[in-house]
This record gives sequence, structure tokens and C-alpha cells, in this order.
Amino acid sequence: MNAPDLRPGALFNDEDSNRSDNATFDSVLDARLSRRRLLGGGAAVAAGAAVAGCATPATNTASGPVQQLGFTPVARSVADTVSVPAGYTAQVLYAGGDPLKAGMAAFKNDGTDNDWGNRAGDHHDGIEWFGLDAQGKPSDTFTSRGLLAMNHEATTDEKLSSFFIHANGGTATLPRPAGEIDKELMIHGLSVVEVRQEMGPGGRRWATRQDSPLNRRITTMSEAVFTGPAAGSAHLVTKFSPTGTKGRGTVNNCGTGRTPWGTFVSGEENWFGYFFRDAQDDARRNDPKITAAFNRYGRRAGAPSRHGWESGGSDDRFQRWNTGATGASARDDYRNEFHTFGYIVELDPYSPNTLLTKRTALGRFAHENVTFAKPVAGQPVVAYMGCDARGEYIYKFVSSEKWDPADANPRNRLAAGDKYLDSGTLYAARFNADGNGEWLELSPKNPAIAAYKGFDFKTAADICVFTRLAADAVGATKMDRPEWAGVNPKNGEVYITLTNNSERTAATVDAANPRAYTDLKAGKEQKGNVHGHIVRLAETAPAEAKFRWDIYLFASEADADKATVNLSNLSAENDLSSPDGLVFSPATGICWIQTDDGAYTDKTNCMLLAAMPGRVGDGAPVKIKAGDKEVTTYAGKPQTPATLRRFLVGPRGAEITGITETPDGRAIFVNIQHAGENTKMADVNDPSKYESRWPANAGYGAGQRPRSATIVITKNDGGVIGT
Ligand code: FEO
Ligand code: CA
Ligand code: CA
Ligand code: CA
Repeated sequence: MNAPDLRPGALFNDEDSNRSDNATFDSVLDARLSRRRLLGGGAAVAAGAAVAGCATPATNTASGPVQQLGFTPVARSVADTVSVPAGYTAQVLYAGGDPLKAGMAAFKNDGTDNDWGNRAGDHHDGIEWFGLDAQGKPSDTFTSRGLLAMNHEATTDEKLSSFFIHANGGTATLPRPAGEIDKELMIHGLSVVEVRQEMGPGGRRWATRQDSPLNRRITTMSEAVFTGPAAGSAHLVTKFSPTGTKGRGTVNNCGTGRTPWGTFVSGEENWFGYFFRDAQDDARRNDPKITAAFNRYGRRAGAPSRHGWESGGSDDRFQRWNTGATGASARDDYRNEFHTFGYIVELDPYSPNTLLTKRTALGRFAHENVTFAKPVAGQPVVAYMGCDARGEYIYKFVSSEKWDPADANPRNRLAAGDKYLDSGTLYAARFNADGNGEWLELSPKNPAIAAYKGFDFKTAADICVFTRLAADAVGATKMDRPEWAGVNPKNGEVYITLTNNSERTAATVDAANPRAYTDLKAGKEQKGNVHGHIVRLAETAPAEAKFRWDIYLFASEADADKATVNLSNLSAENDLSSPDGLVFSPATGICWIQTDDGAYTDKTNCMLLAAMPGRVGDGAPVKIKAGDKEVTTYAGKPQTPATLRRFLVGPRGAEITGITETPDGRAIFVNIQHAGENTKMADVNDPSKYESRWPANAGYGAGQRPRSATIVITKNDGGVIGT
């Protein structure tokens, strides 16, 4: 077994608890600190700068699929800036702490700001566009006014404290002060903000509307409702909701999606780390299968929580993070609070008075994002999802209800969500060595689940709450950390990023996770699948239980060995490490790939690349040597700068997270998460020691502390992005 990794980031950002015998193995990666040296970049970007060039039309101007990429690749860079291709302009639009209510003071950015429930949260992640017409009504075609709905995944932390949001860095020992925790409780969650493109003194530019009635925050304290098989089950009974039907808030939301009926969906990812249960909890419960389930979800008794929120005092808002069996029954404590997180949550951004809905039918795990196959009239609605931890699985949900195209614009969007997302079948993927794969049904009637000794699966609710164990039972394939899934609008094929896996070894490589190698970072060895890959699936119909697969892209450094590591023929224009975000543009068909990299950061900051992918089977089988072992895999067609090229490089310490666009493809919105995350807590008031001072160094906002932010990128000639 792997020794626990006690580095702060490793503990809570990429958990590994899959001790099942399923196909392969797992473990930690996260060395993020690195020496950085300055390389040249593309055009550096001014925040708040006016967008040059001509006006973009504000009506339906769908651009259609593009045939080729049309920009100059951006060079690798370790500069503390956002670099985009010549001819493009990026503008900082919406940063952590920005006010979401009329009349609020601007963000001071010195750790004294409060009222976080009415400000943009931190660590911007997945993001989706929801258009508005001139009257402020929902529109799928209008291009100059809309809502951006997004995740605020986490905070930049060291030890227990989210140090950039506290004046002197906060308290890194237990107990933590209630005032600090109250800030942190409100910084996590989701936000919805209205944006418009308007004519200003320097030309057209995008701006948020501080006074929009549709601006909204969801925090860890917002009331939520459970739907689907687990709603009302004993697993969700808490002191807050003795009926097991309601919960509070959402936390560590990573990737996003947009439903075919026009709502926002978001994945609760590393929620496990926010909980604490004391060392005696297993003995008190005296239920080995529940203990095993807690461990399988990353929460061993006695392990510290990420922020010590349970230490803030006797009030419920703190005690709910202690998920030990401390009271007389589940109605008297928060022993089940742990089970109220780990879901896909749905929000209707157009209806600010509706509640957050937790869709239990889509399973409970470290959800990255969720993406939908193009719905077909009379066929089930199908969604694909990854569980992001080392050695975890890829999942698919197939609705019981058949798609009615009238639901594309329903009067009640969340009722459409009830219809399609509360009843259906969940599957986990098995990748066979011959290039075929199977979707394995997760239901109590599957004999493998009925016979499973690790847990008693009796009901659909059991499957929905303890999904990882059900997938263990059926023998799903352990993957190199599944992150975002995306569906190619051209042919329906499904792409899933596998970001990296530091403990993939020669002994555990398999056809779908075929690389284990050594890479040098600033002279130091890194092992495993250091740079990650992207797998893709082809199904004859989305509801099918079988698929064919290949590996679309092997991420690599350009100068790595082409027989064992750089199998996709990457070059200076397109090499990358640790693919994470993956979103197909509906307007252009471009596949946007974003990195969350700690392995190549001696040479470059994280990046965004544009791809023109082909199809499953466009490459050839290839034999890869890992140690003494040889494994046959199925590689996609090798890349060239014509098919894959770097579009953006972010500031220091930042991960490039979500991306969305206007319906005409003429503006893209990109999230920049945790610039400066390797800054030391002790240096919180010494800007000269910050790893990054972005976006302040680009002219955005007060103070010097780095902030996560949404940027908007336009082409100076008003054209379609990427073409
Ligand atoms: Fe929050 Fe898996 O990235
Ligand atoms: Ca290297
Ligand atoms: Ca991610
Ligand atoms: Ca990641």
C-alpha cells in the first residue's frame, strides 16, 4: 500500500483509496514547487484593457465547424502573465472577491474583506454560458449578454488556513477562530454573474453587472434538496434533515456541464477532505462495512480535515463537519453528513429563487464534470463522468425517460432535471486489452454486486451513495485519474482526460493505461504516468453497453523518447503535461484542452491548447515497453501543429480550469485558478515574495495578492476564436 503523503496539497487534492483488486494500481502525485525560468511567450495580456478592433454582432451568427486552426502557437512560458496568440486580446473580467450586489464596496484584497456570500468565490473552475436576450430572458443565440455560472472549488491553503483571504494569513492550528471559518464557508461553492459586451471609450469590452438580479452565490451553507434513489434514505438522515431529503451547500466543485434542458451541473470532487471524524469513531459505530466505506472514500478515523472547520465551536455550522457518530442516533448528529456530498448538483441559473438540487442517481464519488451526449428524440439521455482520484473509474448514466425535444426549452427546467436525472442506470467502464470495452451495470440485480462481500448492496440508494464500492464489485478498470469528459459534436465520440498517476508502474500498466516512465523535473526524477493521456470511446449509440476505444493523445514533453513516452509526436508548439479540462466548442468543433500541471512547471506554466481531433481508430496499435513488460495499446493518429497547438499560457502557479463561449464562438471565457499557490503563508504580507501577483500586475483591482479570475478572450478583428 502507499504511504500517506502528508504534503498539504497531496492530502486533499487528489485522494487515493482504491484498494480494490481491480485491474491496476494508483497513488500520489503533486510536486508543485519548482524553479521557474523566463521564456518568451506570445502577446502578453493586459487586464482591464479595452478590446481592440471591430464590434462583434449581438445576434445569432453561428459560425459552424472549422476545418483548420488559424492562429500562431504560443510558446511555453514561465512569465507571470497570460499569453495569447498575436491578434487576440484577453481581459480580466471577474476575479475572486468581486462584488455581486449593487452598492457594495470594491474588493480591497488585503485579507480584511467580508460579506463573501455576496462576492465572487475563490478558485474559479468549470464555467458555463447561459445567454440572455435584450430583455434579459433566456436565449440560446444572443451573443452579447449572458450569465456565467461557475464553480469556486477551493482556497489557496497552507496547513489549515486559506491564507490569502485572512489579513495576517489566518490560523494554522486547532481550534480555528469562528470568524476565519465563516469566511471560508462562504468562499466555496458556485456563482452566477451577469456579463455584457458594451461600447466603451476604448471600443467594445465585456463587463460584469454588479446590480443584476440574476447574480447569485451558492455556498457551503445554501439549502439543497436531494432527488433520485438516495433521497429520503437512511444514508442521508442528519440532525439537519431527519427525513434525509435536504442538505446544506456544496463544496469542492470542480468540473461543470450544461444539460440538454439548459441548466448548470457541477461535480463535487475532493469534498472528503473537509470532514473530520475522531479516532474512536470506528469503534463506536461497530460496523466494519461502514468503516470500509468511509475508508474507500478517503476518510479514515482520526485523520485531520483540510481546514479544521469542525473546530469553530458548538454551533451546527461547525459541528456538521464532524461526521463522527457522536450522538444517540443519526437524527442527533452528523454521522451521515459525509454522505450528503459527492454528487452531481444541478442549478437553474435563470431562476434565482430555486434551490440547488443534488442528483443522487448519478452516483457519489470524486466527481470531476458531467457531459451529455447529443440527445436524440425517443432515446434515453446519456451522461459521462469521471471520478478523479488515482486508480478510479469512468462512469456513464442512462436515463429511464426518453428524450422529448420539447424539453430543450421547458417552462420548468428543474422539473426536466427531475424527469431525466432521477431515474436511470449507472455503469462503470471496463477497458479490455483488445481495444473493446464494456459498460458494467451498477445495480443490486447485477450478480457481481449481489455477491460482493465488501458491502451489502440491497437498494438503488445503496448503489447511489456507495458507488465506488459497487464499481469495485463489477471489476471496472482503474484509470490514471479520470478528469473531464467531453463529447465530440462531429461524431459523438467521448473524450476523457486522465491527468497523471505517479504510482503507475511497469507491473500495473495495462492497455488503457500503458505508460510508466521516468521524467526529469529540474534534475529530479518523477515516475509513473507523469504527464497523463486522453482516452476516447466510440459507441454505436450512446445507450449501448459496449464501446471501442483508443488513446487520442499521450501528453509528453517534446524531447521525450518517441517509442515509450512521446507517442503522439508532440513538438514545441503543442507539448503539454497533465491534461484536465476538456471542452468541445459547440460553435467551431475545436476541442479545448487545459492543463493542471505540476510536472512540466520547470519549463512552462499551465496552458490551454486547441485541437482538431479525428476519430477512434485513426491511428494504429503500438507496443510500449515499460521495464521488462511490453503492452499493446491503440494510439490515435500522431499530432502535428496543424492538429494541436498551444493557445494560451497562464500566470505562475495557476491551473487553467473551465472554458465556455458565446454561441457565435467570438468570445471565450477561461478560468485561471490559484495563481501564486506556491507562495508561503509566512509571506502573505510581502508581495515581493509572492509566486504571482496576477491579476494585479495586469492592472486589475486593488492590492497585490494573487486572485483566481475569469478572463474573456476576443479576436482583434472580431472573428471566431481559434480560426
Ligand atoms: Fe479539481 Fe480533478 O480537478
Ligand atoms: Ca521533465
Ligand atoms: Ca479539474
Ligand atoms: Ca486536476
